[in-house]
Amino acid sequence: MKKTIFILVFFLLLFLLNYIYLTPKDYQNRWFNEENVIKGKSIFLKNCASCHKEDASGTTLWKKINKDGFYPPPPLNGQAHTWHHDYNTLAEIISKGGVLYNGEMPAFEKELNKNDIKNVIAYFQSFWKDDVYDIWKSMKKNSDFE
Ligand code: HEC
Repeated sequence: MKKTIFILVFFLLLFLLNYIYLTPKDYQNRWFNEENVIKGKSIFLKNCASCHKEDASGTTLWKKINKDGFYPPPPLNGQAHTWHHDYNTLAEIISKGGVLYNGEMPAFEKELNKNDIKNVIAYFQSFWKDDVYDIWKSMKKNSDFE
């Protein structure tokens, strides 16, 4: 009897863990889904993580100009300034790079197409907390992203 209960509890726990870890996250109120985030993650790890870190947390002192007179790579995870930019501005920064701001970020227009850029934005936006995302989403220019 005890053994049966043990086995039942074991499978129940297994089921719960499976549910928590393996069920795809639904980004219900976001414009992107898990597929965008997964694709964006591999693009980000390959092209962006060396500067902005794997989890898009960037540099802590991102407002402090470095010794060469440039800003360091900022966090893109919603903790810094990135959410002030509408979608098209974010896409433009990624495509043209830091030249827009006399900055150091390289341009990615040759390596990444429109879809790649979309997915990479989804990846770093997946770190944004709901309140940050909601403010971004309420910007008029972002209202087409469902
Ligand atoms: C060589 C380092 C480097 C790489 C690689 C890099 N960035 Fe950046 N990024 C920067 C720096 C530095 C800035 C700050 C502006 C500047 O100096 O150009 C920046 C700024 C940005 C901004 C604007 C943030 C804001 O809050 O205004 C975005 C968005 C961004 N990067 C996204 C990306 C993405 C996506 C990739 C990969 C496709 C990437 N970056 C790759 C260094 C880098």
